[in-house]
Amino acid sequence: MPSPAPVSRIVVADPAALALTAAQRLLARIDANAGRVAIGLTGGSSPKQLYQLLASEAYSKRIPWDRVHWFIGDERFVPANDARNNMRMAREIFLDRFAPRGHIHPIPTDAADPDESARRYEHELKAFYGADDLDPALPLFDLVLMGVGPDGHTASLFPDYPAITETKRWVVGVPKAHVEPFVPRVTLTLPALASCREMLFELAGEEKRAILTRLLAGENLPANRARSIGETVFLVDRAATGGELRGG
Ligand code: 6PG
Repeated sequence: MPSPAPVSRIVVADPAALALTAAQRLLARIDANAGRVAIGLTGGSSPKQLYQLLASEAYSKRIPWDRVHWFIGDERFVPANDARNNMRMAREIFLDRFAPRGHIHPIPTDAADPDESARRYEHELKAFYGADDLDPALPLFDLVLMGVGPDGHTASLFPDYPAITETKRWVVGVPKAHVEPFVPRVTLTLPALASCREMLFELAGEEKRAILTRLLAGENLPANRARSIGETVFLVDRAATGGELRGG
């Protein structure tokens, strides 16, 4: 197997600069593809400022909404209107205001259980992609956003859980979460997340410092196993790095 492309690191001053850099990278990915664009969003609190920026006049008018499709990398298995639902935040802040309805692709949580939800979303992704097998020459996503939890999980791929070893399925159900909120999850798998031109991790704040240190030390954690077949970028703020403003 060819070794994945190296990971680059961008350090910015604070969460506002982080949102700005992420928005610029997102726009650059959209501009680089003249056809239909697919973006994988993420849950958690990290992307909130980015979503707010995308809803601003300056950014919303630069996004060609009629050719961008919005997916999500993982979901909590709660109703679409539950405050813990990941897609709900993205919808409320910007998607419902700007994106055509058919371009918003939430993970369906009205399914009987997380496994059925995963099967349905996998079916939707395959229909969108137009094939059952991922071709490295044709990434599924232009950009995938990622966050990192205190235990090193990313999407809902928790350390030592079976989902992290999945190689065939694109989406799987996760019966029990490893961190709060303790609700079942549905998550894209490593191969599905990897199928992107860019994977962009966002980590901001002092509370991310401990896990960032472990990741930089090369620990075998889900956030170190999730890598794009294209470019992987860790976008971090100074507080997360422990005060140093350095790239690398
Ligand atoms: C979720 C996520 C998860 C998240 C990290 C970071 O459903 O919780 O998608 O992977 O990105 O836990 O969360 P914060 O951004 O809230 O720190």
